[in-house]
Amino acid sequence: MKFIIRRMTVEDVPVVAQLDRMSFSLSWPEHTFYYEVKDNTAARCFVAETEDKQIVGMVVSWVILDELHIATLAVHPDYRRQGIGRRILTEALQDGVQAGTRYALLEVRAGNEAAQNLYREFGFKTVGLRSKYYKDNGEDAVLMNLDDLESI
Ligand SMILES: CC(C)(COP(=O)(O)OP(=O)(O)OC[C@H]1O[C@@H](n2cnc3c(N)ncnc32)[C@H](O)[C@@H]1OP(=O)(O)O)[C@@H](O)C(=O)NCCC(=O)NCCS
Repeated sequence: MKFIIRRMTVEDVPVVAQLDRMSFSLSWPEHTFYYEVKDNTAARCFVAETEDKQIVGMVVSWVILDELHIATLAVHPDYRRQGIGRRILTEALQDGVQAGTRYALLEVRAGNEAAQNLYREFGFKTVGLRSKYYKDNGEDAVLMNLDDLESI
């Protein structure tokens, strides 16, 4: 399946928010995505789009001094395991290098093996645990760090 990665626009937000709701038990309210795209100068937002213009993936990262924080990342359930997550994360990390960040950090649910496998593939390492971080089920967050962003 062919798809491209491009910057998220305000017009994308309703579909992106829908994709977020399909992907997370604690989803972001739609207005949060509007804020990220329009107002948050630290945010870098991308979507994956198919040839027939369907948005099938999204990522939001924040540039915080040296750090690129991966704030959210999701692929539409019907389009998973086709390399979209890998591609959109690559874009976010390379964009982070362009923006001058030197390492990447993220939180992921302790039980989210799919995402942790993806992150490990990029060289992310577990560096900590945030106990009972997720409010819906009290699940821990694993903190993962990628030291050498420029290696991507
Ligand atoms: C995590 C997620 C973004 C992965 O997207 P994807 O497009 O399916 O990922 P890719 O096809 O690029 O997979 C790349 C690698 O990640 C790992 N991976 C992805 N899904 C996996 C799964 N269900 N089980 C185990 N490993 C998995 C594999 O190593 C995979 O490589 P392979 O297919 O060659 O074995 C997707 O499952 C998703 O949106 N999940 C719900 C939201 C979420 O958890 N986001 C992360 C929040 S921190």
